[in-house]
Amino acid sequence: MSGRLSDAWLEELRSRVSLEEVVSEYVPLKQKGRRFWGCCPFHNEKTPSFSVDSESQLYYCFGCHKGGTVINFVMDLERMEFMDAVRFLAERAHMELPERTAQPGEARVTRDEREQMYEANRLAARYFHSLLWTDEGADALNYLYGRGLNDSDIRRFGLGASPKGWDGLLRHLEDQGFEPGLLEKAGLVVRREDRLYDMFRGRVMFPIISAQGRVLGFGGRAMGEAQPKYLNTAETPVFNKRLGLYALNFAQKERSVGRLVLVEGYMDTVSLRKHGVQGVVATLGTALTEEQARLMKRYAPEVWISYDGDAAGQKAALRALDIFDRQGIPAKVIDYPAGMDPDDFIKARGLGGFEALVKLDSTSYRMLRAKDDLDLATQDGMTQYALRCCAILKQVKSPVEMENHLRQLVNETGYDREILLRQIGVSPAQSTGAVARRPRRNQSELTGVEKAEQELISMLAAGLIPAELLKPEDFTNDDHQRLAEWLIAGNAAGAYISGIEDDAERARAMRALNFAPLPEEREKALEVAQEDLRTLRDTRRRQRQNEYKQKVDALSQEEKLAILRQIDAANRESES
Ligand code: UTP
Ligand code: MN
Repeated sequence: MSGRLSDAWLEELRSRVSLEEVVSEYVPLKQKGRRFWGCCPFHNEKTPSFSVDSESQLYYCFGCHKGGTVINFVMDLERMEFMDAVRFLAERAHMELPERTAQPGEARVTRDEREQMYEANRLAARYFHSLLWTDEGADALNYLYGRGLNDSDIRRFGLGASPKGWDGLLRHLEDQGFEPGLLEKAGLVVRREDRLYDMFRGRVMFPIISAQGRVLGFGGRAMGEAQPKYLNTAETPVFNKRLGLYALNFAQKERSVGRLVLVEGYMDTVSLRKHGVQGVVATLGTALTEEQARLMKRYAPEVWISYDGDAAGQKAALRALDIFDRQGIPAKVIDYPAGMDPDDFIKARGLGGFEALVKLDSTSYRMLRAKDDLDLATQDGMTQYALRCCAILKQVKSPVEMENHLRQLVNETGYDREILLRQIGVSPAQSTGAVARRPRRNQSELTGVEKAEQELISMLAAGLIPAELLKPEDFTNDDHQRLAEWLIAGNAAGAYISGIEDDAERARAMRALNFAPLPEEREKALEVAQEDLRTLRDTRRRQRQNEYKQKVDALSQEEKLAILRQIDAANRESES
């Protein structure tokens, strides 16, 4: 993942940002010795078990065992990919990212070529737009008027018309000095049987513009019944459908609105925005991806899913809810009247109508959809409904929310609340908001060996015991052995942790590094270490004895005799 960045560069980045400073922006911290303490941002708690070690520059939560470097922290909390987190921190540290070098197998695209593609796209968008006011684009312009847009809307979204002939754009851009090969790579031109011609012909054009204002690609709508209804730019070095969103160039300036509205299509986006709804974005001809959900999180703390009010839209909304849940993004759903899409709705009811629409929280929406194929007038239908809702409510974490939905379910189904709670699998005490007990500290669940190994590693990392005291072979657990070897060689824990990409593996290492409580004085630590080593060596000896015993037990009587005779013979040889 970090292929393009050297370890040295990453080390430099980690040393230039202070972990406690970054963490304090999310969680108030209190210093005690070399550690800073606060309430864990990754799980719910009232007493602080989250700590930042100012020396090793690692964080660790004694409750949920999450831990790592500043890069892991930003990835986890901001839900960023590795490279995004690095970019975010590099900016903060005023560090330049090293030049990108092509990965093996990746077509080499130079920065210069990408710039040319952006430029070709920009000129293409201008060309399509200008055609609207010529004969060639007359029916596209009429089509847009027919959909309720005026000249000012058309200019604002940079809409256009692609020429009906085969190569209008190709010739236009060749005249401007662009190589046909580059236009092909940019997806503006396609090749068939060694002939090049325009990708978009006779369509209404929607330019897709990035947050930075660069034209990445296009969606082109057919005016008649031509198929497909929408044609989108293929994947290119500057356009990735799974990563981008339509109208992000506007959303960029609307962060204060506090929520995004996610619609299915280009036309819905334009139409809602024309009527004054801010923060509207759409996916680019594909279903919502996890990457797009993460991207949205950077623009607003909440998303309203605003899909078409048909069966396909409802199904897609449930799927989108799952994605937003997984990404930890609060999402609500707008349930349009049957068969309407956002474009139809806002044309009929205006901005006021849109604002008055109920935005259902995810649980309510799931409960609503649970009714779709059931007849609630029958006992069987009602039973099914109650069972489905209980399964949905199992996922609800907040006791207050649980209470609200539970009341609704009691009212709707007539089932007793205790019965419903039993079905959900929550004890009544929990549902009324009793404070969950703090997770137990790690050592209470550990075997003697695990405890000894973690305690030794933690004392070593804390500089309480000398490295000479330990050997990697003292450790039986593979993770512990690798980590111990690293520390015994005199390396810092932080560099080890930052090299681990697997979350579970990092959690195990962080756990080993954070055994508590540790002795405070070196003398006491030495005693504890001797005791731990004795435990480990005793255990190993017992294991070896067991192994030998098993081997001997597995031998037949003759084999045992044969071995005894060999020993005898060897003894006699040494005597003579
Ligand atoms: P819709 O068929 O709902 O179109 O597809 P729409 O946006 O409501 O457009 P109008 O109102 O009929 O003009 C929703 C989105 O799905 C993608 C497009 O991104 C479209 O905006 N799509 C649809 C395609 O990419 N290709 C298609 O053939 C159809
Ligand atoms: Mn639609």
